[in-house]
Amino acid sequence: MCGIIGCTGRDDAVDVVLHGLATLEYRGYDSAGLALVSGPQAAPELRVVKRAGKLASLQQAVEGQALPGRSGIGHTRWATHGAPTDRNAHPHVSGDGRLAVVHNGIIENHEALRSELVAAGVELASETDTELVAHLVAAERDALAGDGQAATTGSALAEALRRTVRRLEGQYALAVLDVHEPETIVAARYGAPLILGHDDDVSWLASDIAGLIAHTRDVEVLLDRQLAVLTPGGIAVTDLDGEPTEGLRYKVDWDVDAAEKQGYPHFMLKEIYEQPQALTDTLLGRLGEDGLLSLDEQRLAEGELRRIDKVYVVACGTSYHAGMVGRYAIEHWARLGVEVEIASEFRYRDPILNPHTLVVAISQSGETTDTIAAAAHARDQRAPVLAITNVVGSTLARQSDGVLYTRAGPEIGVAATKTFLTQVVATAVLALFLAQERRTLLPEEIGDAFARLEALGPLLEQVLAHDDRIAELAHHLSGADYFMFIARHAGLPIALEGALKLKEISYLHAEGFPAGEMKHGPIALIDDGGPVIAVATRSHVRAKLLSNLAEVRARGAVVVALATEGDPEIHAAADHVIGLPDVHELLAPILAVVPLQLLAYHVAVALGRDVDQPRNLAKTVTVE
Ligand code: F6R
Repeated sequence: MCGIIGCTGRDDAVDVVLHGLATLEYRGYDSAGLALVSGPQAAPELRVVKRAGKLASLQQAVEGQALPGRSGIGHTRWATHGAPTDRNAHPHVSGDGRLAVVHNGIIENHEALRSELVAAGVELASETDTELVAHLVAAERDALAGDGQAATTGSALAEALRRTVRRLEGQYALAVLDVHEPETIVAARYGAPLILGHDDDVSWLASDIAGLIAHTRDVEVLLDRQLAVLTPGGIAVTDLDGEPTEGLRYKVDWDVDAAEKQGYPHFMLKEIYEQPQALTDTLLGRLGEDGLLSLDEQRLAEGELRRIDKVYVVACGTSYHAGMVGRYAIEHWARLGVEVEIASEFRYRDPILNPHTLVVAISQSGETTDTIAAAAHARDQRAPVLAITNVVGSTLARQSDGVLYTRAGPEIGVAATKTFLTQVVATAVLALFLAQERRTLLPEEIGDAFARLEALGPLLEQVLAHDDRIAELAHHLSGADYFMFIARHAGLPIALEGALKLKEISYLHAEGFPAGEMKHGPIALIDDGGPVIAVATRSHVRAKLLSNLAEVRARGAVVVALATEGDPEIHAAADHVIGLPDVHELLAPILAVVPLQLLAYHVAVALGRDVDQPRNLAKTVTVE
């Protein structure tokens, strides 16, 4: 939520900041802004341009302006405190107009800080919590100058920020630019992501790797309560006492193409089409030559997983649906009871957890505040936490006892597609891994199930071949104002996911229901011609589902069924059938989600929606 970019050491700072903002816009698009230190060396000045609305408004505002400068910071906003207006757009500037701040997160003690500043006579220009930070850092910088104190790192700005963040409650990723130190950017983080980029004679920072990958693959994740001083000559990381320390440094292994559209009209469509490859990457090398499955990171004591007697899965949104699919596989293969919980609820409950409870936290970004807090809640009660995430070095990955990476590559479309599919694949791998540890399956049964997972890649290509048909169908259905998605068993999370995908990018009302629940209320919503989308692939409950389809059809619904190819009965039960390859019923969701992603995509396109950046949403939810 909110994207931050910063660079020092490039003569074209304005262009690289704008380019960086374009790559980060999916993190928030209520407003965008940038600040540069411009002008002659003898008399540098701070230049700030910011606009409400999408990045295009900022680009327009900047066009034609001479904005030279070698250091700059930029921000793309998902509004929390203060409406999405020009005034509330970041960067925010100190009273002397010489220092600018961009921020991702929420300062929770903003009321107290605001009162203090107002009482001291500071005039506030916005309603944001961020502006307070600009005033506080400037005041600390002035106090340091007044005291004639040498800063610990040689940067007074760094010391001023250090002093300021000690007073902040809440979460922040902050970057500060000050005319007094024209080629320095100072950054700090607590609870919101910030990645540093090392490069020859240039230093970078961004909220995520997508913002840096065009320039460098040598990245360092800034950790909580660390502060970084960026100058063209390099980056120095310290703790809040000014002691030198290090973040988590590594080389990114995906390239810039992965974050570009490559000829597709939208990132979402590109990412849907990347799913066969993403599935293969997620499985690559998991099964060793010894026939044993392994995690990517494993910090659990030997035998710990063998003693697990209960699993909780915690996640939000689409990741929660992936956890729901995973439940069927974990119960069936590893014979463990599984509860799947919405992280924002779980974190405030008092669940019964102990060292024998495994908590599986699923998060594409690994930065979702509620999921991280739910995992922390579990750890507080000594329950081991295993993360399924797409982002190496993310907060969730670092704070877990074991990690399975989904290896889906960057996902830029706000609607999760390939990361959902790979999360489901990862939960299946986890189920088999737990079965291996608990010896609930024989090694050959594990090998066989793993081979079935690997075989899904080419089958996904077959499913994608239905794209034109689904586009046609979507066009036909896009006039409806209410969609129902129904299913049973492992198909149910796919129905819920299909509904979520449709509502988030088309803004149409869509709901998913267990088919067996229809008669208990929801069937009252059915009227003539209303679309009901059913996940009706082969399973031990398919016959029950066919009866449910007959019931909704008898009441006028237009039924679209995802069914196993060659199913003779489905044509009598549905108006439109999309045939899917025949696979194990626990793996069928991995194929079935694809037509629903395509349906949502094409309905949204038919309605002229902004598919990659749907209204009110942002990619990474770093606030509660
Ligand atoms: C929907 C979507 C969201 C995310 C949710 C959790 O398409 O993307 O519902 O799934 O915000 O995000 P992560 O997985 O990053 O924790």
